[in-house]
Amino acid sequence: MSKSVFISNVLPDEARRLIPREWRVEYNESDAPLSQLELIRRLQGKDGLICHIISPIDDEVLAACPGLKVVANVAVGFNNIDVAAAGRRGVVVTNTPDVLTETTADFAWTMLMAAARRVVEADHYARSGEWNSWKWDLLWGADVYGKTLGVLGFGRIGRAVARRASGFSMRILYHDAVRAEASAERELSATFAPKETLLAEADFVTVHTNLTAETRHLIDEAALRRMKKTAILVNAARGPIVDEAALVRALREGWIAGAGLDVFEEEPTIHPGLVPLKNVVLAPHIASASHGTRIEMAMLAVRNCIAVLEGKPALTPVR
Ligand code: GLV
Repeated sequence: MSKSVFISNVLPDEARRLIPREWRVEYNESDAPLSQLELIRRLQGKDGLICHIISPIDDEVLAACPGLKVVANVAVGFNNIDVAAAGRRGVVVTNTPDVLTETTADFAWTMLMAAARRVVEADHYARSGEWNSWKWDLLWGADVYGKTLGVLGFGRIGRAVARRASGFSMRILYHDAVRAEASAERELSATFAPKETLLAEADFVTVHTNLTAETRHLIDEAALRRMKKTAILVNAARGPIVDEAALVRALREGWIAGAGLDVFEEEPTIHPGLVPLKNVVLAPHIASASHGTRIEMAMLAVRNCIAVLEGKPALTPVR
């Protein structure tokens, strides 16, 4: 039977082409978020929604769209969706795990290396016209090789980040609400540590938890003060996991040495205190943005939507 799907924002052709021809598809090819009112209006009569993280799907939206059977988020994170409310209303929520794990881990490392070796400052300086001779004391940074990596959140992405650290002969500490299996610890040479120990001992702290009530401001003033003065913080997970106001003070006052941030508390607004700081590398939430991965994510979201509307189990439901 024909179904009706709303795609709330830009999605590649490769993914849209998967939708059966006889289904009705309404497509908003813009990158901009829709207002709640507009989203509700366009969802009327739709069976499925394929959306990005810029679409908050709360109980009000779900209540106003009783025909909706599936919300397929084109992201691994799903803090934009009230999953409990969806469950109560019988709406399946899906995300896009696995396909973005390696790309996101690559980018966490990109931020780590860029912050450690001051790549953005170096780029600006090289372009500035001020470089007139080789300089002995120019842009000294931090070594990565042989240092301690602290991974907060040891799921798929945290583990992929840890796996890369063996090439740098790093000691790996991790913390997670659930301790990893002994085989994973062995394979990755990773040691479980209390959060406080990890913060105090790591030269690089990289955050890979979901955003939940428990992880909001996981990195707060106390956590930042516990870190080494030489440490670098990387966040390619969700902005509100880090207390940005506290981080600004930490970076300004030298509680820690630097940071690499792909995500922000009030995206796309960046805390104005971060912008002038040279010891932080900023990116506009692009950790999963490789050509191949973004297309894979879109295709997985569409496949999830199709599966649910065809009465089959979702491929990657959120639980
Ligand atoms: C991106 O932020 C994602 O959750 O996939």
